[in-house]
Amino acid sequence: MKSETNIDLLSDLGLEHSNSGVFDGEWKKPEGSFIKVFSPIDGTQVAEVSAITKNQYETVMKEAMDAFRKWRMVPAPKRGLIIREIGDELRKEKKKLGQIVTIETGKTPTEGEGEIQEMIDVSDLAVGLSRQIYGLTIASERPYHRMYEQWIPLGPIAVITSFNFPASVWSWNSFIAAVTGDVVIWKPSSKAVLTAVAVMKVIDRVLKRNDMPNIFFLMSGSGGEIGELISNDSRIPLVSFTGSISVGKRISENVGKRLGKTILELGGNNGAIVSDRSDMDIALRGVVFGSLATAGQRCTTTRRVIVSEKIYDEFLQKLVHAYSTIRVGDPRDPGVLVGPLIDDNAVRTFEKAVETAVKQGGKVAYGGRKTKIEGHEAGYYVMPTIIEANPDMEIVKEETFAPIIYVMKYRTIEEALEIHNNVPQGLSSSIFTTDLREEEAFLSPYGSDCGLANVNTSTAGAEIGGAFGGEKETGGGRESGSDAWKAYMRRQTVTKNWGQTLPLAQDVIFNF
Ligand code: UN1
Repeated sequence: MKSETNIDLLSDLGLEHSNSGVFDGEWKKPEGSFIKVFSPIDGTQVAEVSAITKNQYETVMKEAMDAFRKWRMVPAPKRGLIIREIGDELRKEKKKLGQIVTIETGKTPTEGEGEIQEMIDVSDLAVGLSRQIYGLTIASERPYHRMYEQWIPLGPIAVITSFNFPASVWSWNSFIAAVTGDVVIWKPSSKAVLTAVAVMKVIDRVLKRNDMPNIFFLMSGSGGEIGELISNDSRIPLVSFTGSISVGKRISENVGKRLGKTILELGGNNGAIVSDRSDMDIALRGVVFGSLATAGQRCTTTRRVIVSEKIYDEFLQKLVHAYSTIRVGDPRDPGVLVGPLIDDNAVRTFEKAVETAVKQGGKVAYGGRKTKIEGHEAGYYVMPTIIEANPDMEIVKEETFAPIIYVMKYRTIEEALEIHNNVPQGLSSSIFTTDLREEEAFLSPYGSDCGLANVNTSTAGAEIGGAFGGEKETGGGRESGSDAWKAYMRRQTVTKNWGQTLPLAQDVIFNF
């Protein structure tokens, strides 16, 4: 990677080599340690970002509380206008921000820019929503009474994001929360903290030119420390967390102890069923994209493919052939579809998973080892990997954040569904079939137990208009589209008596 190119890019977005990672309307002077930003593409250090100190945490929290008091009184459609401007600013900077995502996470440029596009899409959704925050009216059992629900902003909420979607998943939560009247404290992953700073720099331009309270706050720092502070802080009524099941459980325990709310988007171990009645070309494309996009580091990555025994050999052969045509390397090189893993630790986890799978009876059909890319020897590259497996292997039930796919056989659709559901996670799922009965079985109560169910399309690549999230150990949260906005507000049931007497509900008599 040419360092001058990086420096140009950084300065274009208002970044420097050394940046503040704490924002509360102003960028706070560094007071403590720095998080070093490395590119997984070639292991070089790109920049550094200051971590928040305990003192700064208190200052930011105080600002966030003050800002919330003002922001909640701004009419929702006016809040939407700010998000609209933010969307426009992101449109202007899509390419540059996409490049930062690529440099910091190793995504291909189309995926890096796709992430900013997803933010833009969410901003559009949020603007529309800002004029559609509605409540039900309910028929009262008492005369001259009126009942209805209204939705009220919750408070300063926290959004803790993961490295793999360092910008878009934040916007799923934050743009929606902002139009509902919340202010948002962002704790980004330390592995993708530069993207967070870059996004906030762009957003800051919009906030500065509008006479509005600051609505987005940034707290960079270690998950262990800041995540603990946030999850135990009763001034924060809602914590939205994307990341591992183990950390999600810890956050949920902390927040639960103080009876706060969480939105959890934890691990996925997504399966695709490929029927003998599928359009095999579509199935193949869906599975290859699902398993290899973002180098297998999406929550929605296809990790298990459950194939009808009637076409198993043919499908496996096609899959192996497709994998052999996939180029791994510097994601900025044209033709490369699979970039690096995020860090050295991810490579070790990949190697360990392959080793364990083989020990448990799996057979490597393709890949299975790390690889070196010329001129990028310090980058973190692995081969896309196919392992023939059986559904009882323990490793098949675990999520490994790497491009490993386990291929398994089934005889009947019922058996396929059983295999499919027999994992602790429940985020995304797919069936590839042209048979109506199989499709409906997959969508029936004994079908997919996931939050996302796809027919003839990939487990990965969800649109923002739907509610995103999953069941079981995935945590049950829903973000982005549909009525996910309700989680960022509190529901108030209003009962009004406009009569001249006081009739009681349930015909209770209380005369005195
Ligand atoms: C994630 O991996 O946390 O559906 C989110 C997808 C993307 C989002 C993934 N739109 O694959």
